Amino acid sequence: MPGANLGLRARVTLTFGLGALLLSTFMAGLTYFTARQYFLRQREVAVLRQAYVNASLVRSALRSPNPQIPQLLDSLDTLPGSRSVLERRGQWFATSISVGRNAISPAMQAMVTGGRPATQRFVLATVPELVVGVPVPSVSAAYFEVFSLEELARTLRILALALAGAALVTTVAGAITGRWASGRSLKPLGDVSRAAVLIAAGSLDTRMPATADSDLAPLTASFNRMADALQERIEREARFTSDVSHELRSPLTTLSAALGVLEMHRLELSGRTSEALDLLHVEMRRFQRMVDELLEISRVDAGSAELLLDTVDPSELLHHAAMAAGADIPVSVDPAASGKHILVDKRRMERVVANLVGNASQYAGGVEALCIEDGPGSVRLVVADRGPAVAPEDRERIFERFYRGGAAGRRGSTEGTGLGLSLVAEHVRLHGGRVWVEPGPGGGNRFVVEIPEVADDEVGNANRTAGSDGQDGPLRQVAP
Ligand SMILES: Nc1ncnc2c1ncn2[C@@H]1O[C@H](COP(=O)(O)OP(=O)(O)OP(=O)(O)O)[C@@H](O)[C@H]1O
Ligand SMILES: [Mg+2]
Repeated sequence: MPGANLGLRARVTLTFGLGALLLSTFMAGLTYFTARQYFLRQREVAVLRQAYVNASLVRSALRSPNPQIPQLLDSLDTLPGSRSVLERRGQWFATSISVGRNAISPAMQAMVTGGRPATQRFVLATVPELVVGVPVPSVSAAYFEVFSLEELARTLRILALALAGAALVTTVAGAITGRWASGRSLKPLGDVSRAAVLIAAGSLDTRMPATADSDLAPLTASFNRMADALQERIEREARFTSDVSHELRSPLTTLSAALGVLEMHRLELSGRTSEALDLLHVEMRRFQRMVDELLEISRVDAGSAELLLDTVDPSELLHHAAMAAGADIPVSVDPAASGKHILVDKRRMERVVANLVGNASQYAGGVEALCIEDGPGSVRLVVADRGPAVAPEDRERIFERFYRGGAAGRRGSTEGTGLGLSLVAEHVRLHGGRVWVEPGPGGGNRFVVEIPEVADDEVGNANRTAGSDGQDGPLRQVAP
C-alpha cells in the first residue's frame, strides 16, 4: 500500500490535503459552470431581444418600395460587438466583411429561412460567437445577429483562474489544518512516550496528569494503572531482596562466630579439615559481601538511598579512595580537567573507586594508573590496569548483576559475586554520570567513570542532600 511507510502525521496531513483538494475542485467546477451558464443565458436573451427589435425594423423597411438594404443594416441599433446579417430571397447582406453567410451553419440557415427562430454558438477564427436568427416571413427574409463572446470568454477565464487559485489555497490550508490537528491529537501519545521513558529510566512515580477529555481519560487511567502495578511490583521485589538479605544476616553472624571458634582450635584439626576451614572462610567472606551488596542494591532499587552531596576535587577524591582501597599511586590530571569540580556523595564514590581498584587487583594484577580526564561538561575518573582486556562482548555485560566474565574463570574459583560493577553503575547513575570499560592504548583495561562537572558558581555550595529515587537520572534535591 503506498503511504504505508508514511508516519501517522504525514498520512493525516495528506488525507486532509487531498480532501480539501477534491472538495475545493468540485466547488470551483460547480461555481464555474453555473456562472458560465448564467452569463451565456443572459447574453442570449439580450441578443435575442435586440434581434427581434431589429427584425421588426427590417420588416417595416423592406415593405417600403425600393429598400436600400446595406444602409438599412448599418442604421440598425445593435449591441457592442454585434454584427447583422440579412438573407432575402437567396441574397445575403452583412455589416461586416468577416462575418456573413459563412458564420451561419447550413442547418441554422435552413431552420430560420424555414420560419423558425434559432440560436447557435460556434467558434470563428478562435473567437467564440453567438448567432441568433429571426425569420421575417412577411418580407421573405431572415435576420441574423452574430454576437462576439470574446469578452465573456475573457471574464470566464479570469473567473476560472480565481477559482483555481482559491482551490489551491484551500488545499494548502487543508493540509496545514491536517498537520496541526494531527499534531494536537498525537500530543497525548508523545506524553505517554515521555512518561514511559521516565519510568524506564527509573522514575517509577511518574504518572500522566489527569485529563477532562473523555477520549483520553481511559488511556491516561490505564497507563497510570499500569505504572502503579509496575511500581508496586518492583518495590515488592526490592523489599523481598532487602528482607531476604536482612534475614540472612543473623545466621551469617552465627556461622561467622562458629567459624571463629573452629579457628581457635585449628591446631587440633587434621590437614584436610584445616583446608576445609580455609575454604569455609573464603566462602563465608563471599557470602557476607554478597549479602551486603544485595542490601545496598535493594536500597537503590527501592529508591530509598540518599545522596549526601559535597563539591569535591576529583583528583583528591580518586587519590584518597584508591589509597584506602590499597592502591597508593599518584593521580595524573589532564590539564583540561584541572580545576574542575564534581558534586558527589563521597562515601558512594569511594565505594565505586574501591570496587574498581579491587577488581584491578583481583583480575589484572593491580592498578596501573589513576587519571583525571576532561569530558564534555564532565570529569572522568579513570582506573587503568594491565590485565587481560575484557572481551568486547562482555564490556556491557560485566555491569549487569551477577555477571562474571571470562577473567573471573569458573564460578567458585574466586571470591567474586558479580555484583560489584552493577553497584558501581547504580552509584554512578545516581550522580547523573555513566561508567564504561575500554581497552587501554597499551593493553589492559580502562574503567572510566564520567560525572557531570559543577558549574563554577556552584563550587563551594557544598553539603547538599538529594533523594535518589531515580528521578530522571539523579541529583534530585530533597532539602535545599
Ligand atoms: N579489571 C578487570 N580486568 C578484567 N576483568 C574484569 C575487571 N574488572 C571486572 N572484570 C570482569 O567483570 C566481572 C564482573 O565484575 P564485578 O566486580 O561486577 O564482579 P566480581 O568482581 O566477580 O564480584 P564482586 O565485585 O561483586 O565481588 C568480573 O567477574 C570479571 O570477569
Ligand atoms: Mg568485583
